[in-house]
Amino acid sequence: MKFLTQFLSLALLAGCVTMNSCTSKKETTEQKPGIEKTAYGQLPDGQTADLYTLHNADGMSASITNYGGIIVSLTTPDRNGKFEDVTLGMDSLAGYVKGTPYFGALVGRYGNRIAKGKFTLDGKTYSLATNNFGNHLHGGLKGFDKVLWTATPVEGDEPALKLTYTSKDGEEGYPGNLTVEVTYTLQKDNALKIDYQATTDKPTVVNLTNHTYFNLTGGAKRDILDHVVTLYADKFIPIDQTLIPTGKLQPVAGTPFDFTKPTVVGTRINDSTDTQIKYGGGYDHGWVLNGTGDSLKLAATVYEPTSGRVMEVRTTQPAVQFYTGNFLDGSVTGREGFPYKKRYALCLETEHYPDSPNQPNFPTTVLRPGETYKTTTIYQFSSKKE
Ligand code: BGC
Repeated sequence: MKFLTQFLSLALLAGCVTMNSCTSKKETTEQKPGIEKTAYGQLPDGQTADLYTLHNADGMSASITNYGGIIVSLTTPDRNGKFEDVTLGMDSLAGYVKGTPYFGALVGRYGNRIAKGKFTLDGKTYSLATNNFGNHLHGGLKGFDKVLWTATPVEGDEPALKLTYTSKDGEEGYPGNLTVEVTYTLQKDNALKIDYQATTDKPTVVNLTNHTYFNLTGGAKRDILDHVVTLYADKFIPIDQTLIPTGKLQPVAGTPFDFTKPTVVGTRINDSTDTQIKYGGGYDHGWVLNGTGDSLKLAATVYEPTSGRVMEVRTTQPAVQFYTGNFLDGSVTGREGFPYKKRYALCLETEHYPDSPNQPNFPTTVLRPGETYKTTTIYQFSSKKE
């Protein structure tokens, strides 16, 4: 009994969440699934953020902070079994607080843009922050990426982190108290599953996503122009000069937007004869996923030839925003003092179409009391020889 008490106090001192999580670095590489919790730092308002590292049996890990629900790192194996981080991120909480272009973050209430920061719902017009060249982007000035979520670790063979947040009626201009729950689960098959759920007490609009920047070379060794991407979409969503959808959908066939077959990202990314490439400064568009209904469908496959890493993205969402880091310009110094330059990462943000609240022909993003918003996205990692 005395021994057990001593062991428990040691475990608590080590900052472990549960017995299962008390894995030393050595045990971790022996692939014991679990969750490790460490203090991540203090926010300017005095609140403390934590960092949760989920390990699965295959050696993959996902580090997530409850500040912004940010995925701080994701280590996945290359073709020789070497685990490296495939995300862009910062060395510390302070780096995220100072500001990043949404590295790893949970985005809400509305992922991507709402034209001129205005929308009308049931006859009432709502005004939102115009934080991106006259339009509203990623939930506004203090979106879900900048709030502290309540975290509950869930132990098991497939460790999970449940994050909850209640966004007050009127927060960032949106109507309704919105109760949000996002669960990250690190699955046995090297997949990170993200389940999103939300309810409201007034009609509102919702479009949640995750904004991880991926570079499958591991450690962002070079830009992503050699990554090979397949998007399972026959149509994309053309935009105007301010990156707002025109309201039409355009077939990808015969355009630089055709990724229906595995395609090297850099091949047509600078095709200045294409107006859409010009407006996006490269790829910064929504692709309309083939297949209908709410079931999981393959949205994208990414292959990085030098490491052999592969990522498959599955989602219940109708679209994916494929963004090639066109706005990265080296001004954000990331992990280990590394400046993240133009096109050093790509994002595959699964979501509804941008500006849906103003586009009557797009699938609706309205959530009403009594309804439950529910979506799932899975990022699955593997490798292949060549
Ligand atoms: C948008 C980009 C934006 C980036 C970072 C993407 O979802 O489409 O235009 O620069 O997020 O905010």
